[in-house]
Amino acid sequence: MENNKRPENMARITTKALADAFIDEQVRELREQIGDKKVLLALSGGVDSSVVAALLIKAVGKRLVCVHVNHGLLRKGEPEQVIEVFRNQMDANLVYVDAADRFLDKLAGVSDPETKRKIIGAEFIRVFEEEARKLSGIEFLAQGTIYPDILESDGVKAHHNVGGLPEDLQFALVEPVKLLFKDEVRVVGKALGLPDGMVYRQPFPGPGLGVRCLGAITRDRLEAVRESDAILREEFAKNGLAGKVWQYFTVVPDLRSVGVKDGVRTYAYPVILRAVNTTDAMTATVEDVPFALLQHITARITAEVPGVNRVLYDLTPKPCATIEWE
Ligand code: XMP
Repeated sequence: MENNKRPENMARITTKALADAFIDEQVRELREQIGDKKVLLALSGGVDSSVVAALLIKAVGKRLVCVHVNHGLLRKGEPEQVIEVFRNQMDANLVYVDAADRFLDKLAGVSDPETKRKIIGAEFIRVFEEEARKLSGIEFLAQGTIYPDILESDGVKAHHNVGGLPEDLQFALVEPVKLLFKDEVRVVGKALGLPDGMVYRQPFPGPGLGVRCLGAITRDRLEAVRESDAILREEFAKNGLAGKVWQYFTVVPDLRSVGVKDGVRTYAYPVILRAVNTTDAMTATVEDVPFALLQHITARITAEVPGVNRVLYDLTPKPCATIEWE
């Protein structure tokens, strides 16, 4: 699309009234642009693609086809939430693709972090392309590009894997939130009625838990990442940290250590907890999580997650560490 520059006099969307005005204008423009054609969207469940989906549902209803690809590397409960919100509550035309086995088979034995990312990205395009080919009459591709994507890169979402579709599937782009900053996207999402869990969600990398299950991904360690992450999120929510800490997650390395449980020697994996604060993800500081809470989370993870016998807290800021471990 031609206009990628935010007008200098464009008011910051900070209130419901401003969000409602933005939504009305976008709905009008989207109807005009799309007419009676169909539009396709890769819906990850992240705030940007969810807001784009909700806007398009309002504008063109079932002529929006959302494709949610479950690559097996999503957090616990995420695919279910996408189905509940978009199919059950918003009555969207949602194609759900369970491609977990496919991704995990492709990733088997691959330990290099960048190779893992490339495989996940390439496989995502392949799955999305297959779904696109099953549909007829699609003329537009919607994307959750936001203004920082335009400012920081060449206008393509760094983790937006659909950029690599083949020539015959090059649809016209629809990018209704491309002039908005993240906080504005959240205000618009709230005004569109999306649940808080989606609107205020912490950042989550495109390759998902794949970069938190270190080295070659195995199903047992991947489940340990998913289950320990769910416990960490639950405890942070219960203890008022969920809305305060910028990003928090768990990591499972591919090394084991000796432990003891019920008088029996174990040889199992550690879980590493990470909780950081930042404004731009370029530098980050470590959250000062209360020690008693760390102990409680440790007790829960070692009791509830199979194959885990230790929990560690990562105290390293960025730099010299990065936020993720891979
Ligand atoms: P690092 O680890 O580089 O992370 O300090 C900075 C922020 O970027 C996120 N991140 C990613 N996001 N695809 C994404 O969409 C990726 O491959 C990726 N790697 C890191 C990370 O979660 C953090 O918020």
